[in-house]
Order: sequence, then C-alpha cells, then structure tokens
Amino acid sequence: MPESFSFQIQARCTQTQARAGVFVTPHGIVETPRFMPVGTLANVKTLTPAQLLDTGAQMVLSNTYHLHLQPGEKIVAAAGGLHKFMGWNGPILTDSGGFQVFSLSEMRTVTEAGVRFRSPHDGAIIELSPERSIEIQNQLGADVIMAFDECPPYPASREDVIAATDRTVRWLERCIAAHNRPEAALFGIVQGGVYPDLRVAAAKKLVEFDLPGYAIGGVSVGEPTDLMEMVVRVTTPILPDHKPRYLMGIGTYREMAQAIASGIDLFDCVIPTRLARHGAALVAGERWNLKNAQFREDFRPLDPSCPCYTCQNFSRAYISHLVRAKELLAYTLLSIHNVTELIRFTTRIRDAILSDRMTDEFGQYLQVDC
Ligand code: GUN
Ligand code: ZN
Repeated sequence: MPESFSFQIQARCTQTQARAGVFVTPHGIVETPRFMPVGTLANVKTLTPAQLLDTGAQMVLSNTYHLHLQPGEKIVAAAGGLHKFMGWNGPILTDSGGFQVFSLSEMRTVTEAGVRFRSPHDGAIIELSPERSIEIQNQLGADVIMAFDECPPYPASREDVIAATDRTVRWLERCIAAHNRPEAALFGIVQGGVYPDLRVAAAKKLVEFDLPGYAIGGVSVGEPTDLMEMVVRVTTPILPDHKPRYLMGIGTYREMAQAIASGIDLFDCVIPTRLARHGAALVAGERWNLKNAQFREDFRPLDPSCPCYTCQNFSRAYISHLVRAKELLAYTLLSIHNVTELIRFTTRIRDAILSDRMTDEFGQYLQVDC
C-alpha cells in the first residue's frame, strides 16, 4: 500500500464475513462499508459538493472515459486536478474507461494493445490502452485509480470469459508498469464471468501483485442476482483480508447487504441519481414515483425518519408538484434524499457490524435462496 494509504479493520461480524473498516487516503478517510455516489462528468448530477457532503458521501467516483472525451484530461490537469476542478476535497476514485467503452460506444475493436472506438461527440477515432488509461487517470489526479480491464458480456462462453480474464491480468501488469504516482492507489479488477473456478483463479493471480485494493467487476451485466451473489461469495475469500474490496456498479439494498456479508467494503451505482432524474424516490426499500396522484396532497416528508435536507424541509406534495412542473429543484431534492438513503443504508449496516448486530438487524436481506 502506498505510504499515504492504509486500511484498518475496526470490527467483524461473528456470523458473516462482514467487516467495518477505515480506508485512509490522501484526501481523507472512508468509513466502510460505504456506498460511493457516481460523479461521471466531474459532478454528481444536480448536487453541489456542499450538498454532496451533507448526504454523508465520503468518496465519489468519476470516469476516465467520459472526462477524456469531455473536457479532456489536459483541462482537468490545468485546473489543478479533479479535486480542484470539481470543488470536491474528499477522496475520489476514477474508473479506467474500458467498461464504459464496452457499454457505451458503438464501433469498437478490442485487441491485445487496447480498445479503439469512435467518439460519440465528433466521430474521431480514440484509443485507450492500459498505459493510456493510467496516464489519463494520473492526469485527472484521483486518489484511487482502477486497472484497465476487459469485462466479458453476459452470457458468454467459457472460452470467451477465459480470454477476457487472462487479458485483464496481462493488462494489469501493463497498468502496474505505467503507474508511477505514489499519491494514487491502483486497484486491480477481478473478472471471470459467472464461472466460479475462473473467478477464483483470476483472484489468485491478482493477489500475487500485492495491490493496495481489489475490485470485483463484470457483475450486474444481465446475470441473475443469485449468480452475482455466488460470484461475490466465491471471490472475496481469495482477496486479502487487510485490503479494501470494492464491488463495481452495485447499489440495491439486497445486493449491498449480501455483498457486505461476503466481505465487500465499497460500492458505487448510478441508481440514486438516475431515479431522481426520473422523479422517483427510494423510501423504505421501495421506489416511489412522485408523479403518482397519491402524493399530490400528502404533506408528510418523503421519509419521516430521514435526516436529509429534503426530508427535513419539504413535503411529498411539494416534490410531487416540482416533478409534475419539471422544475429543476425536483431533481436536486430527490438526489439529496436518494443518495443520503443509500449511504445511510450502508452506514446503518456499518454501525450494526460495530456492535455485532448485523444478522439481527439485516437478516431479512441475508436469506440465501440459491
Ligand atoms: N463498472 C462496473 N463494472 C465494471 C467492470 O467490470 N470494470 C470496470 N472497469 N468498471 C466497471
Ligand atoms: Zn431524506
């Protein structure tokens, strides 16, 4: 682990593999388990950094792919790096871009060298490679940077998954060779599709590189939830106990609770901000569409037990009005609540782990039915 990073485990659940920890980075601490909001284009959509801080966010995620296309890493670097550029002084993690190329770009080719695709903005040909991704991420200046990986689709044949997983390991070696910024911790990404033996083998290879942290990627790509939970269950025991573990792209209540019980520490997902933009609130484990007639004259807060600014100051009726009128404030108020809600879900589990009450308090999410 680079000098300015550390990961301490404070408490363990005696019934599951869950742990509560503190991940120290050059821009502050992350108390785990914790949900990280997504700030794709150097902002968490509709939220100011002050509002973001109030949600309980400690670390936010941003994207190499999007920032490379717009405004370009040169401008971010000239601004003094991503923290200064976006006015967020806390820890930042950047994803490496490979996954976004696969999911967002048409016209892409993958070779051993890297991926080549057309910019959705102007059609220009763009190439990303392990070296290029690390160089861009280092110019962006995040605290945690991610290895450049190949995420196989679901479903995919065993042969195709082996090819992507082996390539991800070779690309990791190139990422490590290209990484020369001690203020950033490089995390490796375990691929392996839904094949448990391939996941275990990939995790074992990655662990040999003794990285400061490890992620599980290639989940939530269309596979059934029980397979995703199986992947997390078989992979986490191979990853070093004393390093942070991050499950990429996951952010539903049940998936996070299950993953925490398997020993995952960090999550990210666009769900809370995306739902907000669709006029929906996450309340008591449900998704509420604020346009529904039932909210028009409902003067209670979204969630009376929620400490967020939205719930402390506004009613369902008011938010319903803003959503119907397409007022921009609707999206800010809903994002504040939704992000707070998911972070609070993970911090409530964290508190339960600290008092060894996780299975008492969150057992409803932990029943294994596969
Ligand atoms: N975000 C969600 N899943 C993945 C993945 O498999 N790889 C990367 N780099 N980012 C992701
Ligand atoms: Zn709230």
